[in-house]
Amino acid sequence: MISNESIQKVLNHTDIVEVIGHFISVKKRGANYIANCPFHNEKTPSFNINPAKGIFKCFGCGKGGDAVAFIEEHEKFSFVEAVRWLADFYKIELEETAPSESYVAQQQVEESLRIVNEFAANYFHDILLQHEEGQNIGGSYFTERGFTKDTIAKFRLGYSLDQWDAFVQAATAKGYSPELLEKAGLIKVKPERTFDNYRGRVIFPIFGNTGKVLGFGARILKKNDKAPKYVNTPENELYVKNRVLYGLYQARKAINDKQECYLVEGYTDVISLHQAGIENVVASSGTSLTTGQLKLIGHLTKNLTILYDGDAAGIKAALRGLDMALEENFIVKLVLLPEGEDPDSFVQKNGSSAFETYIKEQKKDVIDFMMELGLKEAQNDPFKKSGLVNEIAESISKIDKTKNLGLQLHYIKEAAQKLGVEEEAFVGIVNNFIRDKVKQQQRTEATKTTEPQDAYFNPDDLSVTQEASLNLFQKEYKEEWQLIKMLIEYGSKPYAETGTVADYFYENIDIASFENALAHDIAMAYYQYWSEKKEHPALQFFVNHPMKSIKEKVVDLIQVEHQPSENWLKKFNIELPIPEELYEEDVKSSFAYFKLKLLKRYLLENLEQLKNCTAPEEIEKLIRTNLLLKQQEKELMNIVIVR
Ligand code: UTP
Ligand code: MN
Repeated sequence: MISNESIQKVLNHTDIVEVIGHFISVKKRGANYIANCPFHNEKTPSFNINPAKGIFKCFGCGKGGDAVAFIEEHEKFSFVEAVRWLADFYKIELEETAPSESYVAQQQVEESLRIVNEFAANYFHDILLQHEEGQNIGGSYFTERGFTKDTIAKFRLGYSLDQWDAFVQAATAKGYSPELLEKAGLIKVKPERTFDNYRGRVIFPIFGNTGKVLGFGARILKKNDKAPKYVNTPENELYVKNRVLYGLYQARKAINDKQECYLVEGYTDVISLHQAGIENVVASSGTSLTTGQLKLIGHLTKNLTILYDGDAAGIKAALRGLDMALEENFIVKLVLLPEGEDPDSFVQKNGSSAFETYIKEQKKDVIDFMMELGLKEAQNDPFKKSGLVNEIAESISKIDKTKNLGLQLHYIKEAAQKLGVEEEAFVGIVNNFIRDKVKQQQRTEATKTTEPQDAYFNPDDLSVTQEASLNLFQKEYKEEWQLIKMLIEYGSKPYAETGTVADYFYENIDIASFENALAHDIAMAYYQYWSEKKEHPALQFFVNHPMKSIKEKVVDLIQVEHQPSENWLKKFNIELPIPEELYEEDVKSSFAYFKLKLLKRYLLENLEQLKNCTAPEEIEKLIRTNLLLKQQEKELMNIVIVR
């Protein structure tokens, strides 16, 4: 792991203009630089670099961040990889430190799972190819399905013998522990016996981005009403469904080249299409897509084509993820296959060129599709028709137009025309939905402004780019939630000289500066109860709170161990939450996180003032403030790191 000092050193050395200029051509414009954005297609430059702040921002596609974020995005690197790249670029030697215990523990579990999965994948593959039962039963099954030798090798398909514990025997002989094998979903440990989980099934290994096996799908061979058709790996440290898409490893390059991703339902659909030479395809594995999975695709392309069965269930499944995909700014197309066919059966029956032709002819924009379906259903019923207009307008309002204005306009035009309404009127309805959304946000935020504002920092003064760069540190208000959790859990416990954690909290934290309205409301609710009843509210007070949003959030906070921002975890290698006896440390560090975030804001503010300042004494004062802030930042950093 790279030491924090080294990371700081690299960041301090980094000149964002120089780094970005290494990849694309940049032009000076005033104090800033501009370029054609490398992350989306454009002819007039909307990509801005601000060297003073060390950040870039594209007003076309919304991407922005510091030099590290640029490298991460441009090279598809992780944070650490990006830092290493920069260190190499500036010839800075990196100091490596020993990683924390909990990090090592997590890594060890992941690594053990990886090793045991690799063993299992080889084992099942060998059984399929070498073992008599494997060849006779598994092999014939795949032959019948039309899978070639090459395909079987490419997807490392396998077979698990129809015996109670053939795999258990082989794996334990190799020294793998039953606990690990069970965690990996490969075996079941019961008091009566320990047995193979995939007995008599064909095996589809599921690969991660680097080609390592993360888990398996195991298909039954004969129809059986009692046993499930597929048995899949349970969620564990390595196999996290939200981060896995079947086929993505094999499809990455084709998706990127073709700038289109086909989404199908099943393992066998992916495999058959590959065999037919259609490689830009991934499977949702029968469930609807999650946002995490969409993001995996979104790194490669924003053109998503869903290929589903033409029956009612297939259509429903296809439309389920639509709003989510629109929120992620995908352009979603839909192809419905003839009833009773899936991509696998269709391509096996008709061949790849018939398949491509079918897609080309049948491909429909998903919003168009919704409209046609709705219009057919509504016939001439004016009520149904206006319901449909609303429904479509709401979907269109989900598109984030700061990221893709053209897309929203495109849909508005299309929809107005198809639905036979005036474009202007339709825009009005879409805007109503957008306004509702904004109003709701404002209503919850209104409570904030009644609190006195911090004298020298007002978040409303932040410019758009400043806010964008703030978001880099602060995507989900995790620092605020961490503090709230401390307050609720340890509010009445002694802390510092002041008395209790709650005393310290209200004396030192200006809750008006909270960015998340709900976090602010919970802090207010605590305070009101406390000052009225002269005692600290128990956890039950929140869990039974009449406001649903408070109740749900607190339950969520308390149940799931809340973790500091992933960015901090990544950057500074902070340990996982600690037991209650050590609450003081935890509280101390939570306050430090929060203050660090504020400091970042102050620093930005200070830089902004420096930029606009001309009077020498004023400049000197600002620079002194700057140094002071940096010093404080360093001190706080020590608190968060040490623990
Ligand atoms: P399908 O029933 O369409 O299976 O489920 P399939 O992949 O087309 O398989 P064949 O062609 O009948 O052999 C689609 C996907 O849903 C998941 C699997 O990922 C499967 O590929 N699924 C289905 C399960 O996880 N469990 C099940 O019991 C059924
Ligand atoms: Mn199928």
